[in-house]
Amino acid sequence: MLYLFIPPHYFILKKTFMYSSLLIQTENNICSITINRPDKLNALNKTVIEELGAAIDEVINDPAIRSAIITGNGAKAFVAGADISEFASLDATGGKALAQKGQDLVFTKIENSSKPIIAAVNGFALGGGCELAMSCHFRIASENAKFGQPEVNLGLIPGYGGTQRLVHLIGKGRAMELLMTGNMIDANTALQYGLVNHVVPQEELLAKTKTILDIINSKAPLAIAGCIKAANAVFDETKNGYHIEINTFGELINTADAKEGAAAFLEKRKANFMGK
Ligand code: COA
Repeated sequence: MLYLFIPPHYFILKKTFMYSSLLIQTENNICSITINRPDKLNALNKTVIEELGAAIDEVINDPAIRSAIITGNGAKAFVAGADISEFASLDATGGKALAQKGQDLVFTKIENSSKPIIAAVNGFALGGGCELAMSCHFRIASENAKFGQPEVNLGLIPGYGGTQRLVHLIGKGRAMELLMTGNMIDANTALQYGLVNHVVPQEELLAKTKTILDIINSKAPLAIAGCIKAANAVFDETKNGYHIEINTFGELINTADAKEGAAAFLEKRKANFMGK
């Protein structure tokens, strides 16, 4: 008789968050997070914000995940903004809480993630959608993508970091025009402005994003985390980015992966990085 040995830990089920508005799939160490409300153009309601927060936590904490993609379901929209139907009942306190919660749970967390999180923008990226894309480490767009901060049309301003990140990414003059007119720009204008890194046909969007992440994932994870930490310091007035760069360089040069990288170069072979 054949007995199978099943180790006890096999039965310890991994605690996973159940998602109702996101599709999550991890393949080749890349976690694809797809916002799944195509009938509402993937608008960010309370549930989507909470689930995105949980999904980003999973990306950060799961050692099997090296990087992530955020995209929207359907051919039309990445995210068409915060869910406007949730605005009517809000007073000043509620409005502040909505913006604060979103920034804390999702936007700031994405920006500061030590693992790369890239936006694959497959259509409208408006309001909170443009802000979500901007909180990612960089952006790839499909040819039909459109970007804008139309909050002024509602008597509002962005609340998820849009006034700050748009100025950082495309400069004050262009940002001011987009913020104050509420106009949309197409993917090629976004490319020209430096808001996105590449524009590709929609059917090639995810493959292009994964190809770039495969390259990043082949590098030393601690070095990738160091790039994010040091580059993010440019946008934090409380930090001296040059000091952070010096300290991070010093910490990295003492890691096993940096020793392996130098040895592999000198021995003319491919480096085998372990994330240590
Ligand atoms: N919040 C809530 N619902 C939204 C939404 C949002 N931000 N954006 C789109 N939707 C919903 C629409 O109400 C509509 O729902 P319905 O079919 O139940 O009526 C559905 O998504 C499809 O949108 P629709 O407006 O019919 O599509 P369109 O092709 O005519 O226009 C947009 C597309 C993106 C131009 C338009 O939907 C729009 O302007 N959306 C709001 C953008 C915005 O102001 N975002 C910032 C919010 S702070």
